[in-house]
Amino acid sequence: MNVTLRQLRVFESVARHLSFTRASEELFLTQPAVSMQIKQLESQVGLPLFEQLGKRIYLTEAGRELVGFARRIMRELREAQLVMEELQGLNRGRLGVAVATTANYFATHLLAAFSRRNPGVSFSLDVTNREGLLRLLMENERDVVIMGQPPEGQELVADAFMANPLVVIANPDHPLTREHDIPPERLQNELFVVRERGSGTRVAMERFFARQGVQLQSEMEMSSNEALKQAVQAGLGLGLVSQHTLAMELSLGCLAILDVVGFPIQRQWYVVHRAGKRLSPVAAEFRRFVLEEAEDHWQLPQQPTDSSA
Ligand code: PGA
Repeated sequence: MNVTLRQLRVFESVARHLSFTRASEELFLTQPAVSMQIKQLESQVGLPLFEQLGKRIYLTEAGRELVGFARRIMRELREAQLVMEELQGLNRGRLGVAVATTANYFATHLLAAFSRRNPGVSFSLDVTNREGLLRLLMENERDVVIMGQPPEGQELVADAFMANPLVVIANPDHPLTREHDIPPERLQNELFVVRERGSGTRVAMERFFARQGVQLQSEMEMSSNEALKQAVQAGLGLGLVSQHTLAMELSLGCLAILDVVGFPIQRQWYVVHRAGKRLSPVAAEFRRFVLEEAEDHWQLPQQPTDSSA
């Protein structure tokens, strides 16, 4: 059967309207053009598809059979088109991601893995603290945001995908590095280097010490994890950071995690977007990738087991 898609499309329209005139209007064809397509189709099939009784036309049995096939073929074609469009999206899409300062330590690894799999996708990446991210979300400015647990009562879709333990760090020569099960009250006597206001790490830290009834004596504020870690390394004081930020320092042994009771503070990482936002195929795929595969592409840095003791 040498049948064309055009013939099937015309045939389906005539079968649906049971009228050559209405089919020709729907398809913006002349009536003789419609009749011609049907005649050619009938000669390919070898059977009449319509019969005329009085002024009306009816489908023959062959016509009724064929219209089912024609509809299935057209439905499959539409689906094929959708899939192609989506694939094109993944091949050529743009992805706007914003991540918490602290999440950036693993987010670039996730983007690299995602980009190896979808080489046509281009990215823009914003790195800012929790407060900045909430603003971006409210303004619906980015496709996907990676941050700590967002506040309740906002119109957000947020799903947790990975643990975010917060730890107390010290210079490896600090006397507390040799102690175990340090009660949190002991930290009251220590100088502390903390993140800036607006940081999620800072909020979690303040909540923890307030619950413990611990009042930290003096705090030096640093506006980035890097500055904070360098200050602690230099011996300015103790610090509190996410363990995700410590890959380099733990492997080089230039910072140590203290064994404080109640630590690590267990937070979670969330992938977030505004409720009701229409995610592009690329954004939807990235979100799925983060939720299902993040932990295959990033391992939480660990303190080497104690060899000096
Ligand atoms: P941040 O980290 O401290 O860099 O804002 C995000 C969070 O823990 O919520």
